[in-house]
Amino acid sequence: MWIVVWTAAGCADLSRGAASSDAASSTDAGTEGGALLNSDAAGSFASSVHGLLIAVCQRCHAQGQEAGDTQFLLTGDGAADYASVSRFISVSAPGSSRLLAKMSGTGHGGGTLYAVDSPEYRAVLRWIQEGAPP
Ligand code: HEC
Repeated sequence: MWIVVWTAAGCADLSRGAASSDAASSTDAGTEGGALLNSDAAGSFASSVHGLLIAVCQRCHAQGQEAGDTQFLLTGDGAADYASVSRFISVSAPGSSRLLAKMSGTGHGGGTLYAVDSPEYRAVLRWIQEGAPP
């Protein structure tokens, strides 16, 4: 459900012609510099990233689950999960963040969840590029 809502919001076709077309275009790869993305549309951990991770990562990355003995654990609590995710990102070299490598299946026991060319991967990458705001 969460992904459906998020995808719809990022699809220019669904909002083309509406007053929100500026926000819709913010998902284009071409705006990665961040100049247009200083507001909420840029995406915070809470608004753009947490839900994506909860949706597909938590079933393994939680206490008692398959990846429950790793350092990457999701509880559903925003502050705790932000702290957990922060260990696996690099704001100085966003593209080399372990979080991105793992989620796209590079050396990851959980395989590929979000491929490199997926909108979800790009959303997380852009969030890191923008300094990973909570
Ligand atoms: C099917 C189960 C499964 C899913 C789903 C899964 N993982 Fe994993 N993950 C693992 C396992 C098992 C490991 C431990 C082996 C390894 O390091 O790859 C792991 C390790 C990791 C690590 C390294 C943790 C450490 O302590 O070094 C990160 C980061 C990570 N996963 C991120 C993710 C992200 C992000 C997602 C969702 C987009 C995700 N994983 C979804 C099974 C999963």
